Amino acid sequence: MILGIETSCDETAAAVLTADGVILSSIVSSQADLHARYGGVVPEVASRRHLELVAPVVREALSEAGIALDEVERVAVTQGPGLVGALLVGLSFAKALAWARSLPLVPTDHLAGHVASLAVAPDPLEPPFTCLLASGGHTLLLAVRAYDDFERVGTTLDDAAGEAFDKGARLLGLGYPGGAEIDRLAREGDPEAFAFPVARVPGLDFSFSGLKTALLYTVRELGEAETAARRADLAASYQRAIVRALVERLRRAVDETGFERIAVVGGVAANSELRAALPEARFAPLALCTDNAAMIASAARFHAAIPCPEYLALDAYASLA
Ligand code: KG4
Ligand code: ZN
Repeated sequence: MILGIETSCDETAAAVLTADGVILSSIVSSQADLHARYGGVVPEVASRRHLELVAPVVREALSEAGIALDEVERVAVTQGPGLVGALLVGLSFAKALAWARSLPLVPTDHLAGHVASLAVAPDPLEPPFTCLLASGGHTLLLAVRAYDDFERVGTTLDDAAGEAFDKGARLLGLGYPGGAEIDRLAREGDPEAFAFPVARVPGLDFSFSGLKTALLYTVRELGEAETAARRADLAASYQRAIVRALVERLRRAVDETGFERIAVVGGVAANSELRAALPEARFAPLALCTDNAAMIASAARFHAAIPCPEYLALDAYASLA
């Protein structure tokens, strides 16, 4: 039994997973409402909320899995990348819990966690594969040789794909986080109504800042009333541009990695147009696209545990190694 804990951004999450990848529980307490009025995550507010939520969320994960704390055999926790204050809440909690029970601890990388969302039962995806990881913080193309062995072949030069969705949503007067709202609204709009540019950067990298600026200018030109009236068309056209960029690069990445099977993980993997545009790809299960702790416990199955009490001095890390 693996207890996973994730607090890297604005979701407080805990999950119980068996060693063969069966999810017994996965609890996610989102702070989105708390941050919505600021239009984005406020790090200090996030840390304080994690502090209040981490114990009850872990308790709920155990109770929903139907197990007692005694039955937990190892603790997995996100060590980075993410907001350092937020990460430290989960990491400190996990250390204390593991130490009190003399359990081993597996410090887990958040990105390895997203990739390992493909490894859960009943149908784990066998590496090797080419993986697009598209979230609020990252847009990466990865050559995944094994769940503990992958290499970055492309990244974004500016905004992440999820960030592009969120910033676009804000320009359209939608709530935060905006990806899911754009997705919903786009279904009623015409994706060909506006021609938004997809940046052409050399190689396998992405750039989304020009697209965001194009939307800004269009919204300014249309004015408030017209923007409101054409919001669905704007959302559909904007989403189309992001999806095109992602699909085109992911297909091209296969030439670089030589791994023909393709997979998509991270919050943006929940996007319905992206899912429809890549019928040949394997997507993370919907419930495991946005941040959760089941993926962290899943990743921990492929990494060595640190015996008690050698992990007590571990620190969190903010950015990509
Ligand atoms: O993986 P995640 O929960 O957090 C990070 O590790 O960053 O991803 C969150 C991102 C947000 O930017 C959110 O707007 C986006 O995923 N997202 C979506 C959808 N659902 C969530 N983007 C597009 N379409 C969706 N349906
Ligand atoms: Zn994430």
